[in-house]
Amino acid sequence: MKLINSIDEIKKIKKENTTIGFVPTMGYLHEGHVSLIKRAREENDMVITSIFVNPTQFGPNEDFEKYPRDEKRDLQKCEENGCDIVFLPQKEEMYPNDFLTYVEVEELGKSLCGKSRPTHFRGVTTVLTKLFNIIKPDKAYFGQKDAQQLIIVKKMVEDLNMDVEIIGCPIVREKDGLAISSRNTYLSPEERKDALLLNKSLILAKDLIENGEKNISTIRSEMEKTILLGKNNTIDYIDFVDIEKLNPVSEIQDKVLIAIAVETGKTRLIDNMVVEL
Ligand code: PAJ
Repeated sequence: MKLINSIDEIKKIKKENTTIGFVPTMGYLHEGHVSLIKRAREENDMVITSIFVNPTQFGPNEDFEKYPRDEKRDLQKCEENGCDIVFLPQKEEMYPNDFLTYVEVEELGKSLCGKSRPTHFRGVTTVLTKLFNIIKPDKAYFGQKDAQQLIIVKKMVEDLNMDVEIIGCPIVREKDGLAISSRNTYLSPEERKDALLLNKSLILAKDLIENGEKNISTIRSEMEKTILLGKNNTIDYIDFVDIEKLNPVSEIQDKVLIAIAVETGKTRLIDNMVVEL
């Protein structure tokens, strides 16, 4: 496996007749990231993973500085799971002092997480545009864990005619149901127990819907009760939206994305489920 830090060097990697599967990450790799790397390994000649804690997607009071980092362990995980190249750029090279250009998918970035993180998705789409231009992948792999991110990235690629296929992959969970996230390391043992209620509330919603409940206020209020059983939990949102435009739905019909964000202690956690009738 090769480690590349320089943009000029990685730009030379793309060869004709060699397919590249790309897995963009912010590092501190876990089984969720590994599932994407493995899928990319199955479907491409070459697998490239990037590790870059992207400053433009963090708000001024967010956790950019304290975001967990462990380069040595990350490289080991990449190697073990069949990565050919890890791209680990420097912040100064990705964003020189005279950097001025941003890519924004309008509307889709304003709902759900965009309400409390207004510049987050602009940062995500900007860094991904740069990474796609630099690496020139045939396919890029994203987790359904960040459902809004996946929808926004697909829209950006469609709208800007980018030559990359976006592949969405299922959420990987711990045995007890907690969606795996790099931020789970911030949780104390008691907070971790409360964090389990996110997934519990989604399962409850699914059961209610499968048993014929169509009223969103009723389902939301049952989910709230479940999540707030955790003393450390404060709800940011519980939203029921369509999976293309992320518009709120007024009643449960064929397919709905139930997306939630909760502060457990000081840690912001997200989870979601797509329920089909
Ligand atoms: P990061 O949070 O490191 O996640 C990288 C990829 O791993 C994303 O596509 C995310 O959805 C996926 N992922 C995280 N947890 C997962 C889980 N439990 N199951 C399945 N997939 C999971 O998302 C980002 O980084 C950044 O915004 C990035 C796209 C790299 C742009 O900076």
